[in-house]
Amino acid sequence: MVTLVASEELPGCGTQINFKMKKIGILTSGGDCGGLNAAVRSIFFRAKNTYGMEVLGIQDGTVGLMQRPVAFLPLDYQTFSGSLLRQGGTFLGTTNKGNPFKFPMPDGSYKDRTQDIIDGYHELGLEGLIVIGGDGSMSILTEIAKRGNLNIVAIPKTIDNDVGATESSIGFNTAVSVATQALDNLQSTAASHNRTMILEVMGRDAGHIAINAGIAGGADVILIPEINYSINGIVNKLTEMKNRGIVHSLMVVAEAVKTENGKTYEIEFADGQKRLGGIGSYLSEEIMKKTDVECRVTSLGHVQRGAPPTPRDRILASAFGVYAVDLLANYKFDRMVAWKDRKVVDVAISEGISTYKVVDRTDPLIETALALGVYVGDID
Ligand code: F6P
Repeated sequence: MVTLVASEELPGCGTQINFKMKKIGILTSGGDCGGLNAAVRSIFFRAKNTYGMEVLGIQDGTVGLMQRPVAFLPLDYQTFSGSLLRQGGTFLGTTNKGNPFKFPMPDGSYKDRTQDIIDGYHELGLEGLIVIGGDGSMSILTEIAKRGNLNIVAIPKTIDNDVGATESSIGFNTAVSVATQALDNLQSTAASHNRTMILEVMGRDAGHIAINAGIAGGADVILIPEINYSINGIVNKLTEMKNRGIVHSLMVVAEAVKTENGKTYEIEFADGQKRLGGIGSYLSEEIMKKTDVECRVTSLGHVQRGAPPTPRDRILASAFGVYAVDLLANYKFDRMVAWKDRKVVDVAISEGISTYKVVDRTDPLIETALALGVYVGDID
């Protein structure tokens, strides 16, 4: 899809006029992940090479647009002459705190900062903005765009891969690769010591990382929040293995898995914020209470987010970036790019947000895991 100009017939005068978008912005929002820099790079090249646009990189997500002067980096060919494509994180900065509708102020109060964001966009003279974010960031930016007439297009990114209407989001493949590598490393030490190694992976409400890495890394037990499990079920699996003479094993658990009686495991931080974490230790305790199995726990955490992007994520980010610029250039706003059947397509942002994607019981990967003899929970 390449159109250099959008045209419109002026009502009543029959004259065809051409508009050409001259200046666009990019921001990364929410938790970082592998592939963000690759996406920004791709957006820049498409915008500059194909459409001659000026491209500004907004710093620290929406926070950059709130600041005065607005915090941005003018992007040029020099910006991308180094190794950015290969680097994790986002050189523009991002934030997953501070909802702009209720933004925490230094005096402890909360303020609606959305008008500052809207003003920031207009002060920079932006005609379009590409938002690289997850479902939370997309909802916030969609609402702000509606209030302030901002022209936005979204690119889905999240290691959790839970954005709807797209088969893949940027960052997911990198996280799966890191988790698989961790299982590869844990296998040898599990075998050396005859232990059960429990790997806790991220995934706030969805088990995509756990099921994918678990299969790729040869796990014997994979627990995801979408499927109920029991400690007895795990113990039976370990006993079955022991009866076959196999006394070491690998277990993957998604951080959002609850205890057997439904308690969410969270760690309270000094600032009062609660974050998921600890289910791996709970499982270890419970298994060791009921068996003579020796467990050890590894909580993988943010290495899944900060790792250099895999080739797959670099490719996805590059394809998404090109398509997102084409959407803006064609004056197609409020659209999200999506990956479907090996093609980039676009859907309404609202569709991406409203169709939150979890691991479905009918997902072929569940059947695959079961066929491999993996315990994935108490499935009838
Ligand atoms: O949503 C992405 C994610 O990495 C989750 O998997 C995880 O629970 C959360 O973000 C961690 O957030 P933070 O960076 O605030 O610790």
